[in-house]
Amino acid sequence: MSDLEPDTVSALEAPGFAAAQFVRWFRDVAPYVHAFRGKTFVVAFGGELVQAGALNALVQDLSLLSSLGIKLVLVHGSRPQVNEQLRLKGYTQQFDRGMAPTDAAALECAKEAAGEIRLDIEAAFSQGLPNTPMSNARVRVISGNFVTAKPAGVFDGVDYQHFGLVRKVDVDALRFATERHSIVLLSPLGFSPTGDAFNLAMEELATSVAVALRAEKLIFLTETQGVMNDDGTVDTELARVDADAMLTAGSLDEDTAFFLRYASLAVKRGVARAHLVPFTLDGSVLLEIFTHDGVGTMVVEDTLDDLRPATLDDVGAILSLIEPLETDGTLVPRPRSVIERDVERFTVLEHDGVIYGCAALYPYPENQMAELACLIVHPEWQSTGEGDLLLRHMEARARALGVKRLFALTTRTSHWFVKRGFVQGGVTDLPPQKQSAINKSRNSHIFIKRLASG
Ligand SMILES: CC(C)(COP(=O)(O)OP(=O)(O)OC[C@H]1O[C@@H](n2cnc3c(N)ncnc32)[C@H](O)[C@@H]1OP(=O)(O)O)[C@@H](O)C(=O)NCCC(=O)NCCS
Repeated sequence: MSDLEPDTVSALEAPGFAAAQFVRWFRDVAPYVHAFRGKTFVVAFGGELVQAGALNALVQDLSLLSSLGIKLVLVHGSRPQVNEQLRLKGYTQQFDRGMAPTDAAALECAKEAAGEIRLDIEAAFSQGLPNTPMSNARVRVISGNFVTAKPAGVFDGVDYQHFGLVRKVDVDALRFATERHSIVLLSPLGFSPTGDAFNLAMEELATSVAVALRAEKLIFLTETQGVMNDDGTVDTELARVDADAMLTAGSLDEDTAFFLRYASLAVKRGVARAHLVPFTLDGSVLLEIFTHDGVGTMVVEDTLDDLRPATLDDVGAILSLIEPLETDGTLVPRPRSVIERDVERFTVLEHDGVIYGCAALYPYPENQMAELACLIVHPEWQSTGEGDLLLRHMEARARALGVKRLFALTTRTSHWFVKRGFVQGGVTDLPPQKQSAINKSRNSHIFIKRLASG
């Protein structure tokens, strides 16, 4: 029996509640919980999130992350609120994204808006009503002069006056606070050694802080969904080089490009992962962190560097990866001639000239399906995420070919696929051409993953 409130327990026992589903879900989340305990996440959101009434739900989710041992630094923006203050005081100036000349009056408005939002956030973290997600939560929020700023200066003849750039982040003080389980809250203001305050861009501040802390994650909660694929789905993982290429090509909408630029910069400077996550989706932070594919776009350093299409020169190395698994019955035997014929379907993982993994994609265009075959990581390199990397890459290759459903046949790896979003199917779910070619005596399990709606 748990210590949960009786109401909560009875909810789990309610008719129709799939207890097994709950347990499975909880267990699926466990690896992420273990992986992220003690890691630092910088979560940044604009004043638009507060304006949209999404603050309370976000605070509840962040409190949960904090209680799971994730060290949190929050950076809030206040642009719409500053603009409102300016309007109320009869000024015509309005702030847009990014750098903005800030005169003395605008700085006062920025201070007032930041103060108001900070108090609202602190109040939200102080909730603890029974029967809410904040029940029993005791979250300490700390703010302070953690950021030294310098004046941005004069650009194209325009003096930006009280608009500043981050000069230094007091990393020791931030670590001291987060290691003692406090959440640090930073407003978009910095202070100079002359004792002046400067208006900062929230995105620049968050990026600088994440880089200084060498954060595990920088998460931007945005109005945009993230980077979209041509078929209208979200591109859930982008290598930084690809993000930069998209930015150079100018193919993205303005909002997405704006945040992606900072995400890319953060990753280039050592942040492990940077995310664009839509705040319009309730619980998006939890979904992004605790589900395999997430709901937004994650930018990573060029982890795909080790991945490349196979060539005929790789056939020998592919065969030596496959052979032991053919011998023990894990994989269907494939003669050299078949590998040579199909080598273009293979992708290999190579490091320092050593081929240590491979996978092949066999498309069935008329069914908008493809088979993922020969997914192998050499035993010495297993369990370090390489299998995952290969799978994501093959999924991206399949998507690019218009594949809607990816399937794999396996005798020993069912759980690995299930954990990565595959569901068990039957022979009749496969393309007819594959159905007739299948070796029924192997009694392989069939797993299918839907890559895009449709
Ligand atoms: C399946 C395979 C490619 C995974 O490669 P990998 O680099 O170890 O994968 P990842 O690092 O991304 O994942 C490792 C996790 O998967 C788990 N895992 C590995 N093989 C598994 C299996 N057969 N069943 C269930 N889970 C498995 C590991 O225990 C590890 O879990 P952990 O992170 O909780 O410790 C690799 O195990 C392999 O080459 N297997 C033999 C070939 C095969 O069966 N291919 C699939 C059919 S085509």
